[in-house]
Amino acid sequence: MLSQPTINLNLATERLASGQCVVVPTETVYGLAGDATNGEAVARIFDLKGRPKFNPLICHVDGIDMAERYGVFDPLSRKLADAFWPGPLTLVVPLANDSDAHSLVTAGLDTIALRHPRGITSQLIGQFGKPLAAPSANRSGKVSPTAAVHAQEQFPDQDLLILDAGPCAVGLESTILKVMDERIIILRHGAITAEMVEAATGIVPELPASEKIEAPGMMKSHYAPSANLFMNCDECPENAAWLQFGNANHTDRPHLNLSKSGDLLEAAANLYGHLIELDRTGLPTICVSPIPMTGLGIAINDRLARAAAPRDET
Ligand code: TXA
Ligand code: MG
Repeated sequence: MLSQPTINLNLATERLASGQCVVVPTETVYGLAGDATNGEAVARIFDLKGRPKFNPLICHVDGIDMAERYGVFDPLSRKLADAFWPGPLTLVVPLANDSDAHSLVTAGLDTIALRHPRGITSQLIGQFGKPLAAPSANRSGKVSPTAAVHAQEQFPDQDLLILDAGPCAVGLESTILKVMDERIIILRHGAITAEMVEAATGIVPELPASEKIEAPGMMKSHYAPSANLFMNCDECPENAAWLQFGNANHTDRPHLNLSKSGDLLEAAANLYGHLIELDRTGLPTICVSPIPMTGLGIAINDRLARAAAPRDET
């Protein structure tokens, strides 16, 4: 059956501006998109996907100009963008100083994954004026959707706007590359092959030296506070800062609340920023209130558990 492409860019822009998610077509797979500068919109992506982990997301841009507002392009990364954008290529580059991408998008890293997709989504990003964070539009653990109807089936109970541009041309997630000291590292294989990269740059791309270190989403690269972190604390001892959640006891120690009303979406959006701020106090310890293991709470607890783990294990 031929799907009838339906595209309403104005409605999509409105939804994105109000922090909602929109399913967008790209040449690789359909993406579950949200405003990359809005923490609650990004938290909503994780919530809808039911992702148990906050791995960093790709920010989709409408061209190199927007990309350069968010990331710093060395000449080789720039050459790769010129050769393959718009297209199924994501580049991981250092985060620009004045980038306003939310820390939940980058998982607190000092790098950012940027991609300029082909087609209508690029137009939508231009109209919206900001990058869109977008993982594949499927529930965690399910197959990535390559047609609008597949995306729809993943979220039957949601009032989700789905922009239908027909089947995806590539049908496989984008190739992810990272330039390091004139070397090109392949973080994820995709339709832009090693041969194509070599033909465009004269450089043979490499696999990460240790999968443990560079494989996308690995915890090693994630932000870890300098302070030691303790979870499930109902009190805060001397010499510690307190990261609270919900109705927490009074304290004279430095403290921030992830969400006074106990809203997990708000808590997820505040997580990295609050951790960084409490770490800045220079106190040796950060205590964290208990956070329920439901919905987004699972990803929040996962992230905290990694930050609490002994450093040589991360
Ligand atoms: O084709 C695609 O890339 C699709 C469509 C929707 O564009 N998007 C997609 O996004 O696959 P996502 O968020 O599921 O994939 C993000 C991948 C993850 O493996 C993540 O770990 C990696 O990119 N990544 C994101 N930021 C990174 C960073 N700063 N450093 C290393 N890896 C990063
Ligand atoms: Mg996926």
